[in-house]
Amino acid sequence: MSKLIISLALSALIFNVRAAEGPGHAAIASAHPLATRAGFEVLEQGGNAFDAAVAVSAALAVVEPQSSGIGGGGFWLLRRASDGKTVMLDGRETAPSEARPDMYLDEYGEPRAQASLVGAFAAGVPGLPAALVHLSKHYGRLPLQKTLAPAIALAESGFEAGERYIKAAAAHQAELKQSPAAAVIFLDQGKAPAPGFRLLQKDLAETLKRIAKQGGDGFYRGQTAAMLLQGVRDGGGIWQDKDLQNYRVQERTPVSGEYRGIRVISAAPPSSGGAVLLEALNILSGFRLLPDDPLGSKHVIIEAERRAYHDRDLYLGDPGFVHIPLTRLLSPDYAAGLRASIRLDRALPSEMLSTSAVQSHQGDNTTHFSIIDRYGDLVTATLSINSVFGSCFVAAGSGVLLNDEMDDFAVAPGRPNSYGLVGGNANAIAPGKRMLSSMTPTILETQDRIALLGTPGGSRIVSMVLLGVLDFAQGHGPESWVSIQRYHHQYLPDVVEYEPGALNDEEVQGLSRLGHRFKQTAKPYGDMQAVLWDKKKNQLSAASDPRGEGVAEVR
Ligand code: DON
Repeated sequence: MSKLIISLALSALIFNVRAAEGPGHAAIASAHPLATRAGFEVLEQGGNAFDAAVAVSAALAVVEPQSSGIGGGGFWLLRRASDGKTVMLDGRETAPSEARPDMYLDEYGEPRAQASLVGAFAAGVPGLPAALVHLSKHYGRLPLQKTLAPAIALAESGFEAGERYIKAAAAHQAELKQSPAAAVIFLDQGKAPAPGFRLLQKDLAETLKRIAKQGGDGFYRGQTAAMLLQGVRDGGGIWQDKDLQNYRVQERTPVSGEYRGIRVISAAPPSSGGAVLLEALNILSGFRLLPDDPLGSKHVIIEAERRAYHDRDLYLGDPGFVHIPLTRLLSPDYAAGLRASIRLDRALPSEMLSTSAVQSHQGDNTTHFSIIDRYGDLVTATLSINSVFGSCFVAAGSGVLLNDEMDDFAVAPGRPNSYGLVGGNANAIAPGKRMLSSMTPTILETQDRIALLGTPGGSRIVSMVLLGVLDFAQGHGPESWVSIQRYHHQYLPDVVEYEPGALNDEEVQGLSRLGHRFKQTAKPYGDMQAVLWDKKKNQLSAASDPRGEGVAEVR
């Protein structure tokens, strides 16, 4: 008996030691080649995945300024190999203290056009700088001076902007011109930049240097804070000193569950991502998704999404402000009830769950990266300033492009935001509150495989990650997850959106007969960045979405 206990204890020990052993190599997938390079630079200097995550986040802020930045926020899902600690850093923006539920409505209670989208009034208090400082201090090995150095160099010396940037700047030149400090940086003498444009961001380099030197105080107090406050107030915004000084990163327990033997670990509220993902997976776990029945599989995936996104709109918001019945939403029993409401021969009209129908559109913004280092430390992070170029507003002298994340609140109850998402009181605006997000950085784990994945894409983020998880469950690798063609249902509007080519005519006709309605998107969407560690073969692989300009590498 005692022998047995000893041998069990020994095998547990061996298992733990094995589990803590890393792959011996590193992999990074990010949305921009220069950001991936920045990550490897820091790893080569002795940094770990958390240092690399600081470097990649900061570099993305510089080289992909239309998508994320230190004027925005994000979620970093981490696992530390040495002790297995798994945590989500919540660097989501907060509503300023003068924010009010009706701040974007006119005297008739109607949303004022663009008020929550363009200009300083649309900006939440940034969380990204605080998150990078926290990540570095509590998890990294290298000082910020080293991990921010690649981003500072890119901002100071400039780099040749890619096609995505050129297109985004052309599409947003009118909004950028409303902020002279933004126009000077992101346009070429007031005009849309042409291919070959060199983007220089000297002020941003100085702000990053202050963060490198002073930590959080380099942004939330002193010179940077003074420039931000002055600029925001002059631009019609409502930030106060205390809003910046009181900003705090939150360490949150990620949401987690099981799907067909896969441990799924994902973003906790104030992201809706993990909850919607797990609820949909729980519903789907009772169906056999057969490869030879693509139509039937797609029907139940769409129906699962409809129900999970419906709960998003009803229940989800900042857990510091509203009670979220998370245990119920994530319970397999609850999912069984929802599953029972799915008919195999009929789509459920969303109006049976609610009444109004709304329109949605999405842009090419927000960003994601995934990193695994040689020790087995993991980071998967989605970062955002919300719309393309955020609020298009820069506070003079700071170089910081501010987010327009306030639009992720339910600006008017029951009214769609820019992603067509509706919400109620759970996501109403309140001072200091974090707006609900869809960002879904996710870790998947089986005995043999660990995967990291995530993507930008507004409300479609969760359905993209869901398709990625289902593909992982089929045994496919990262190249496949990032490439699979995408379709999406978010409860309202009651329509299946799909990329050109994602559904063939037969599928559209077959699913239409069940009552589904369709809208093909104008172009492909998403920019997934994924990494896989096959522990059995001790092999790393990584992939960047072919739709984007990212680079994935194993070294
Ligand atoms: O947090 C959110 O859900 C949004 N601000 C993300 C925006 C986004 O992904 C835009 N991408 N196309």
